[in-house]
Amino acid sequence: MIPLDLSGKVALVTGVGNDLSFAWYIAKAMQAAGARIVLSCHPRMMNMVDTILKSDRPDDVTARKLPFVAGDFKPEAEYACDVSYDTMDDVPAEMRQDRRWSKIEQQHGDYSIAGLVKKLEPYQHIDILIHSIAFSAEIKNKMIDTSRKGYLNALSISSYSLTAMLRALQPLMADRPDGAAALGMTYLGGDRVVPHYGGGMSTAKAALQIDAKQLAHNLGTKKIRVNCISAGPYASLAAKGIGDIEQMKAYAAERSPLPRPITAEEVANAAVFLCSPLASGITGEVLFVDCGYNTMGV
Ligand SMILES: NC(=O)c1ccc[n+]([C@@H]2O[C@H](COP(=O)([O-])OP(=O)(O)OC[C@H]3O[C@@H](n4cnc5c(N)ncnc54)[C@H](O)[C@@H]3O)[C@@H](O)[C@H]2O)c1
Repeated sequence: MIPLDLSGKVALVTGVGNDLSFAWYIAKAMQAAGARIVLSCHPRMMNMVDTILKSDRPDDVTARKLPFVAGDFKPEAEYACDVSYDTMDDVPAEMRQDRRWSKIEQQHGDYSIAGLVKKLEPYQHIDILIHSIAFSAEIKNKMIDTSRKGYLNALSISSYSLTAMLRALQPLMADRPDGAAALGMTYLGGDRVVPHYGGGMSTAKAALQIDAKQLAHNLGTKKIRVNCISAGPYASLAAKGIGDIEQMKAYAAERSPLPRPITAEEVANAAVFLCSPLASGITGEVLFVDCGYNTMGV
């Protein structure tokens, strides 16, 4: 049998907001393949994720079931990180003084990228980084109506953060025996015009894709591979903010070679493959997991 085995590997999975997130499914599939999972969540999502991980509600118990009857999802740790900030010095003073944010700081400590990497040091190495993060405060604005602030913020969170995280994680990811792998999540809106996809998000995805290729080149000598998955439309929390996600799904499904929407499990399985030693020769790639929609001309 061909081994798809991540035993002993440590996977840092960012971007779990709830049990619909692509990152949730990816983390579960990685654990099912044997990886040790560390989650990094936006500070304001920590309580929600913690509840899903611990509650006895039947829905949450079901959500924690791993695929392939591999048991229950149990990350080794969950750390808060807002990827807008390289260090806590970057957090605006008024935000640190805000009651809600100062409580978050008391609870979770340093929630910058540097703080996260410090907390990861006891692991001694990270084999896999999943970057499954995107945000635009102006997603509903057409490009023509997007403000400079909204545009730059979308790029900072959704694109630059991959570079910032990989730079900070380099010492933990470099020269692993099987190599290490990073994965970003992108969308067709980074290649073509998707009218709903405004607020700088289309630019952010285009930037993420070329950044991943640049980073693949920059980090290849350290045996770190960098790839992206371009997923078809899927009704996560973030996607519901875009507009009529059900309409987008139905439109794509009607026109795709496989005439149906994608599932989060399909994205997760592709992520496990791309981050496994089976994909050791693949880097700088964007793999579409979209039922073939991107191949269509009309
Ligand atoms: N859902 C889709 O249709 C679709 C399609 C293609 C690609 N994607 C991409 O997949 C990735 C995951 O999205 P999803 O659909 O699972 O939605 P999601 O809402 O579950 O995940 C987005 C995550 O980004 C996190 N985030 C936002 N700002 C952050 C910040 N400053 N610091 C740290 N974390 C932050 C959120 O907390 C959330 O967990 C995104 O990059 C998204 O663009 C989604």
